[in-house]
Amino acid sequence: MKKEIEKLKNSDRYRLKYHLMPVEGLLNDPNGLIEKDGVFHVFYQVNDKECCHGPKKWGHYESKDLINWEIKDFALSPEENYESHGCYSGSAILHKGKIHLFYTGNVKTEKGERESYQCLAVENDKGTFDKLGPIISEIPKGYTEHFRDPKVFERDGLYYMVLGAQNNNLKGEVLLYISKDLKNWELLKSIYTKEDLGYMIECPDLFELDGERILLSSPQGIEPQGSLYNNLYQSGYMLSLDEEFGHWWTEFKELDRGFDFYAPQTFVDSKGRRIMYGWMGMEEENHPTIKEGNWVHALTMPRELKIKNHKIIQSPLEELKDLRKTSIEKTDLIVENEIVFPELTGDSYEMIVDIENVSAKSFGLKLRKSHCEEISILFDKDKLTLDREKSPCLKGKRKCKIAGNKHKLQIFMDTSSVEIFYNDGEEVFTSRVYVSSEAEGIEFFAKDGEILIKKLEFYQLGSFNYY
Ligand code: FRU
Repeated sequence: MKKEIEKLKNSDRYRLKYHLMPVEGLLNDPNGLIEKDGVFHVFYQVNDKECCHGPKKWGHYESKDLINWEIKDFALSPEENYESHGCYSGSAILHKGKIHLFYTGNVKTEKGERESYQCLAVENDKGTFDKLGPIISEIPKGYTEHFRDPKVFERDGLYYMVLGAQNNNLKGEVLLYISKDLKNWELLKSIYTKEDLGYMIECPDLFELDGERILLSSPQGIEPQGSLYNNLYQSGYMLSLDEEFGHWWTEFKELDRGFDFYAPQTFVDSKGRRIMYGWMGMEEENHPTIKEGNWVHALTMPRELKIKNHKIIQSPLEELKDLRKTSIEKTDLIVENEIVFPELTGDSYEMIVDIENVSAKSFGLKLRKSHCEEISILFDKDKLTLDREKSPCLKGKRKCKIAGNKHKLQIFMDTSSVEIFYNDGEEVFTSRVYVSSEAEGIEFFAKDGEILIKKLEFYQLGSFNYY
């Protein structure tokens, strides 16, 4: 497998260096995230046959350090009647020393109707998974067959499962189930009835973090509102206002401001960190990776979640510092008009920039710059914009509101993706970027005034190893 990947790396200019992606085919949601005995397991939805949605399998990567990855056999493939059209998304927990996988068996009948079964598979001594079949076969009364993506967690000796659902009025809801033994499940209640969040809610995740109770979800059918909700589907969170997980939630806040972020899932590792991976993709786009390398989409970098002022903040996991190779540091640089530092260049790097003393009306950075291409990050009044207009395909802009006079950017550029963490993860932009391989320049600019770059750190980043 390693050889195969090395070959692909050389023949495909868009292949990512430090993001998990499919060897071939279409990847979507992260699934079954878990750490067991010091090994991280990252499962993911994949159609390995074609670059389109289809009968999904669970791909499986394993790693001890999140840099060196073992590519495992598919953990789940649609073989049984109750999952004939896909082993859809789900989660993992550790029970009696074995990883238990919960997923949705997706079935399309001959009449073209959908059926959904919530299923269980348990790790065996060979490290593969034995399917125990459906554990919830009935769609609850009042809901349609859009009923999927079980996320299971344990609390005070009982097990809970949240599921994405659609009610008979075609509105999205999240249902909470309870079980004593992981096999028999009972519907407790709908926990998501206050705000109208479209026609279906996918991939819910319910957890406690820093004293807050949080519901993460991926609703479909929210209309765009100015700079909000501009992607086809959204991902975001609400904080519970109830003592228990109930009906009262704060407003839905988007988790990411970029073009390519959906269906995130979290888990807690042995250090107690709440870690999130997302799907770095959105399905409607015609990504050039399909023609170039017969693959499409990837997972985001893993991010640690914390709460600050009742808001989720995201930071890249510590472990990714091990990707750092050469480093360059600069301090106290005044920028007015444009500056290019020839030594800051590349298509796979991390750059941290602290900006202060802004007198410029607008300012920012141009990444992946060639004579005709660039990906720009623009600060203009109270807006931060990611602009892909000057790239040959997948153009467009995404914006968010910001406040304050100190601006910190932590930018992770991979060959065809960028993740931008603003002010230590108060806002994050995740996007695919497709520019030519020669587009490697970085320019800083300030218009009608100046800015001070108090500190700049630049690291060329290495690649994941696969075996
Ligand atoms: C979200 C989703 C899930 C489903 C899976 C199928 O992207 O639609 O609801 O389980 O993808 O691949």
